[in-house]
Amino acid sequence: MEKTLAIIKPDAVARGLTGDILKRIEAAGLSIRAIRKLHLTRAQAELFYAVHKARPFYADLCKYMTSGPVVVAVLAAEGAIAKWRELMGATDPAKAAPGTIRREFGQNIEANATHGSDAPETAGQEIAFFFSGMEILS
Ligand code: CMP
Repeated sequence: MEKTLAIIKPDAVARGLTGDILKRIEAAGLSIRAIRKLHLTRAQAELFYAVHKARPFYADLCKYMTSGPVVVAVLAAEGAIAKWRELMGATDPAKAAPGTIRREFGQNIEANATHGSDAPETAGQEIAFFFSGMEILS
């Protein structure tokens, strides 16, 4: 079973979309193996998105990710990484396919409702960023 990290971002949590998004996750056959609501500090957001440090949107992204609570979850399924990315849709909600989470709930390329790991290596790193091994159902 592959695992991936999901984040329901501040804009979606603030608009009361957590339940809708979790329902879609479960309906798609992704099993929630760990879940927590938390408010990222600036330092934590900068570390989590360190791979984007050189990008022009980095500072704004870190500010936005600390603007309110997020929900982080570990999802498991065969092909969980691709499955979750497909369910989310393209990064830019305007370019995401109809019916996807970002198309329906995202507001713009920054406030795009959810995050998902993009590869097995990053999934491992991102899961370990938020959860210890004993917090994750095997
Ligand atoms: P996420 O999947 O969390 O990964 C990086 C985030 O940066 C992305 O979703 C968006 O929320 C944000 N972002 C803001 N501007 C851009 C951009 N121009 N290209 C890609 N990501 C962007």
